[in-house]
Amino acid sequence: MTNELPKLPDLSPAQATRIPNMRLAAGWGIQDPNRFWSLLDEASKLVQPGVFIGDNMFVWMRNMSALDDEAFVRAWEQNAIKPADQAIMWRRYVLCTAAFHAIHLDGDFVECGTLFGTGVKTVVDYFGREHFKKQFFAYDTFDTNPVPGHGFEGQQAGLFDQVQKRFADYPQVKLIKGLLPESLVGQSPDRIAFLHVDLNSAEFEIAVLDALFDRMVPGGILILDDYEWSGVYREQKMREDAWFSARRYRVMPLPTGQGLIIKR
Ligand SMILES: C[S@@+](CC[C@H](N)C(=O)[O-])C[C@H]1O[C@@H](n2cnc3c(N)ncnc32)[C@H](O)[C@@H]1O
Repeated sequence: MTNELPKLPDLSPAQATRIPNMRLAAGWGIQDPNRFWSLLDEASKLVQPGVFIGDNMFVWMRNMSALDDEAFVRAWEQNAIKPADQAIMWRRYVLCTAAFHAIHLDGDFVECGTLFGTGVKTVVDYFGREHFKKQFFAYDTFDTNPVPGHGFEGQQAGLFDQVQKRFADYPQVKLIKGLLPESLVGQSPDRIAFLHVDLNSAEFEIAVLDALFDRMVPGGILILDDYEWSGVYREQKMREDAWFSARRYRVMPLPTGQGLIIKR
């Protein structure tokens, strides 16, 4: 940690009359997609601007702050390599704004569950590669997915090499290949300012919380990517609620499906 203040992305002032709409056509758990999207399109014409449709959300009269933040829009657009990356724009902005807070704290950045590296790279690029002075530890098995039924298209032999190439010019990003939580041993930071947990598995997520939560510094931010998603993710909420209640914390459920904790 240096005493030098981090260089931060500028925020362009919001204009009174520019309220954008955004429709990102990816969603999950939808029956009869043709009818669903046509009804949603019709409904979106009946509401005031500031519409966001994407990532299983339909909201209106929102400021769409992410779209006023030019540094974010650049980082998000440059890094969205899969259709789902487009849809989860709001989740990415939650990560970037959490990072904007955490970059001021002592401690490093950690992501458990990195896949193609898009979340990590969006966060670092938001600040600008040369201005992001923290170490960012990124853990995954990469070439295979240890969670049954959760393999992603493109998650196959050779993925780790591809992700390493993607971060070739990012010496602050440490990609660590191996099964969590064992892969943390001897190669994880003692002090953590930002922790993103995105493993799609209650068992593995609890295991990394056991290992890492106590290392988070006061004010550090934890984002649980799937906490507020139901369906196959519901077990994560159930196990995590019990885990945090035992420590006198309550997870803030975000409408994006993420859960947020500020470490005391
Ligand atoms: C949803 S993806 C991560 C997406 C990424 N955070 C992003 O924002 O683009 C979940 C990843 O967790 C990894 N994973 C799940 N359990 C793991 C474990 N026990 N050890 C290492 N990686 C694991 C999977 O291989 C998969 O790549």
